[in-house]
Amino acid sequence: MVSLTEIRTHNATLKSLSSGLVAIFVGGTSGIGLSTAREFVRNTNSPHVYLVGRNQAEATRIIGELREINPTSQLDFIKSDVSLLKNVDEACRQIKEKEQKVNLLFMTVGYVTFQGRDETEEGLDRKFAVHYYARIRFLQNLSPLLTAGANSPDPTLTLSRAVSVLDPKIGRAGRPNFSDLSLKDNFTLRNCATHASAMNNFALEHFAQTYPGTSFVHAYPSIVGTGAMRGLGTAWTAAWKVGGMLLKPFMVDLGESGERHLFAATAPRYAPRARAERVEDVAKGGDDVKGSGSYQLNWDGETLPDSKTAATLRAEDAEKRIWTHTEEVFKKVCEESGKY
Ligand SMILES: NC(=O)c1ccc[n+]([C@@H]2O[C@H](COP(=O)([O-])OP(=O)(O)OC[C@H]3O[C@@H](n4cnc5c(N)ncnc54)[C@H](OP(=O)(O)O)[C@@H]3O)[C@@H](O)[C@H]2O)c1
Repeated sequence: MVSLTEIRTHNATLKSLSSGLVAIFVGGTSGIGLSTAREFVRNTNSPHVYLVGRNQAEATRIIGELREINPTSQLDFIKSDVSLLKNVDEACRQIKEKEQKVNLLFMTVGYVTFQGRDETEEGLDRKFAVHYYARIRFLQNLSPLLTAGANSPDPTLTLSRAVSVLDPKIGRAGRPNFSDLSLKDNFTLRNCATHASAMNNFALEHFAQTYPGTSFVHAYPSIVGTGAMRGLGTAWTAAWKVGGMLLKPFMVDLGESGERHLFAATAPRYAPRARAERVEDVAKGGDDVKGSGSYQLNWDGETLPDSKTAATLRAEDAEKRIWTHTEEVFKKVCEESGKY
């Protein structure tokens, strides 16, 4: 376990970097995204932060709060429902219009539901879209800017990292159905969780191979008291209040979660493949190779060792098959018919 003392010591060092880190928080209007954005703003010099979400009123309140924490920060809100890939492309277009580089892409967009498949006009399930397709589309669109971040002439500003907060463990234990990766015909909440998790794991390994100057993290946050249950209606929200009290001893405090995720987003041990050799305590990647550039983290900052199932999937070319499918979805939705 990475101790909170070590995490706080590292996070405080970010103040010694030059000013002007650029960070995008997709899902920054609530929960772990907001808590991490708060720590990022507190610990950096004149950062430029973009919050992406739908809730304008919350975003306005949060921007006021973050400005008080660090008056040198520049804060923007992009109001967007990113369950549609066309909206992801538009959000990225707005970012690219203003920025030459991005240092951190931090993605927590998601929600809890007990409903079955809920198909968007683009032919994807809404929950699966925000947990996987939208995140990977942000990554694909912004990778050139993340590479530009890695190549900064200022050696203190070469941070270049993408973090997807979901759960790498589920996809390491279960097998995705390769004949129906988008779950058009085989949707269950369990299958959705397995696919989103495994596909995040393997897509991030794909990106680590393609963009060696950037590092990629898929992080499990543990149980954190956030707004994640708010879409379930009053009965479930009330039940969660009671359940939450019982679970409290096993939960991670929201503020601590923000500090831990800032560490995941900036600590040198999760180095990009191209820089790994220079880092003494570099972590093992999801493929068990030290410094391979794509890391799967437990809530406490420790990397997860490769699992038997994941190793078998890797031998079966899972990364390539998942990436081929993802490109096919992006092509159909974003370039051809607008629908998968
Ligand atoms: N909290 C936990 O215990 C826990 C445990 C395991 C995994 N996770 C995963 O961690 C991630 C973050 O969870 P959290 O607890 O921080 O959740 P949260 O408090 O509900 O925050 C989710 C964020 O996603 C945004 N969002 C949701 N749907 C969106 C859409 N269609 N378009 C744009 N933004 C959207 C929300 O913003 P708006 O409301 O402004 O749209 C909000 O900022 C989720 O993927 C969750 O599954 C959480």
